[in-house]
Amino acid sequence: MNNQNNRAVFVTRLGAIAATAGSAVGLGNIWRFPYEAGTHGGGAFMLCYILFIFILGVPVICAEFILGRSTRCNVFGAYKAAGGRNWKLAGYIGILASLMILSFYSVVAGWTVEYFIQSASGALDFDNQQLYHQYFDDFATSSWRPVLFTVLFLILNFLVLIRGVTKGIERVSNILMPLLLLILLVFSINSLTLDKAGEGLAFLFRPDFSAIDPSTLLGAMGQAFFSLSLGLGCMLTYGSYFNNRTNIGRTALTTAILDTVVAIMSGVIIFPAVFTYGVSPAAGPTLVFEVLPAIFHNLPGGVIWSTLFFFLLFVASLSSTISMSEISIAYFVEQRHMSRRSATVLNTAIALVFGSLCALSFGPLRNLTVGGMTVFTLFDNMSSNVCLPLGGIIVSLFVGWRVKRPVISDQMTSFGTYRIRVIGALIFCLRYICPVAIGIIMLNSLGII
Ligand code: PFF
Repeated sequence: MNNQNNRAVFVTRLGAIAATAGSAVGLGNIWRFPYEAGTHGGGAFMLCYILFIFILGVPVICAEFILGRSTRCNVFGAYKAAGGRNWKLAGYIGILASLMILSFYSVVAGWTVEYFIQSASGALDFDNQQLYHQYFDDFATSSWRPVLFTVLFLILNFLVLIRGVTKGIERVSNILMPLLLLILLVFSINSLTLDKAGEGLAFLFRPDFSAIDPSTLLGAMGQAFFSLSLGLGCMLTYGSYFNNRTNIGRTALTTAILDTVVAIMSGVIIFPAVFTYGVSPAAGPTLVFEVLPAIFHNLPGGVIWSTLFFFLLFVASLSSTISMSEISIAYFVEQRHMSRRSATVLNTAIALVFGSLCALSFGPLRNLTVGGMTVFTLFDNMSSNVCLPLGGIIVSLFVGWRVKRPVISDQMTSFGTYRIRVIGALIFCLRYICPVAIGIIMLNSLGII
């Protein structure tokens, strides 16, 4: 259905939630959360992460939704339409972050494609944990295989974008995502029966407060923004598609809860297995790919579980990369006056170049580092820990100080349809709590505060 400006709108409440959740739920929850939690001490990270999701994440999602629906524009047009001609920085941070994320995210999505194919062929079935480690290591350090799968994934992403079948993917993912949730639940229950389940759960849920340092805070905040697709204008764009009756507060809260539940389930699946199979929780980005196949191997019908899981993870990744690609495509089309086709080609070409560099970061380009970080880690850290929080500060300040209270109130109540009592608190959060807290955590991690 289109509104009067001929802009697509989500007709139902479920449509709005499914789309935002489709963007939010992805590799961030299932791959990135466990590895970040593992490298930052487990429980302490988890506690900070949950606090940031609800104290910073929910108000900032509301800010993006308010700005998107009140202007019915993408990230560039939105600030301009709301009177912020000089707030272009938000748009530029959004494109930079979206291209960096697309580049390294496609590498991991490529790993899921490879693992899907290998699972289906039965080649990913070993008796010994060490062999899973070896398998991943051989794959990731190869000079061409990770690049091949990154390219393959980006081509699929391109085809979906260019054929305008985004809606089709959204529909497919709306059916498959509940299935993903269901099988995550099955795996969680299975992990609770593993020998060292207690140790794994204690690692994840028992915070060691002495482990909280500036890097834990920054990592947890970056993860909260990354996982909620926040700070780069993605949620703003989705907000611009909401119909006038969509309850912004409820959609923000539901998305945050759903996203957090998936991340926690992923932790509950991984950490008991990490301790049972003797893997280091701090193994980094490779953690999940070394541990999950071993879990599947020990389940009855393991090959089927494994194939199904990696397929669903691939679909979840695709619904996320589609949403992040739209940010730079919208910029090329609306600000640079390119055709949609050329814009999509350019978006993919950039990701192909940088994605290949990221893909080789585990093998031949392992020694190409900036400040001790490989290209992959640099893109991952720069986007999540710098660009997204900065984008979060900008949108909070803009909506908190520049957007008029009646506009915020109209948006939060959906023009009087709902009674919302927390508008004053939301504005307070956007004006003071979010920018100050995000700023302090960022400066603290740089050693400035
Ligand atoms: N939130 C996605 C995930 O957790 O996998 C990643 C993501 C999607 C980040 C879209 C940013 C974005 F614009």
